[in-house]
Amino acid sequence: MKKGEVKIDARQARQLIAAACAARKHAYAPYSKFRVGAALLSADGRVFAGCNVENASYGLTMCAERVALGNAIAHGAKRFVAIAVVYDARKKAVPCGACRQVLREFGEEILVLSATTRGTYTVHTVRELLPASFGPEQLGT
Ligand code: THU
Repeated sequence: MKKGEVKIDARQARQLIAAACAARKHAYAPYSKFRVGAALLSADGRVFAGCNVENASYGLTMCAERVALGNAIAHGAKRFVAIAVVYDARKKAVPCGACRQVLREFGEEILVLSATTRGTYTVHTVRELLPASFGPEQLGT
């Protein structure tokens, strides 16, 4: 972990993963059957959950991470410490490219906990998952 990056302790990580697991139960994934849950921890300590929401028009599917982020923004949160994303235990995974970019909008130092339903997880920063990225700074905002 590099200087300036935010850390969370193991207990907080477990709690965030548990919240993502709970949200995963509500996943609407009748097409892929690949259920994903996410839980975003804001700087003020609130947790915002999301799950994937698929659609018969497949391309309109929303990933769990972006649903969690939308939920957080709608509640006035804009600064984030970490996001936990829970995937099927047999299919270890990490967030898709689109979600990496959307998370990056809110900080390269956000921790991404990519977990399985068995509770194993890896930790990356958004910067590690999306190096040399484009962000609001490029637009001068
Ligand atoms: N999915 C997510 O929710 N997050 C990811 O990071 C990867 C993919 C969802 C979208 C779709 O409903 C299903 O997983 C299969 O791609």
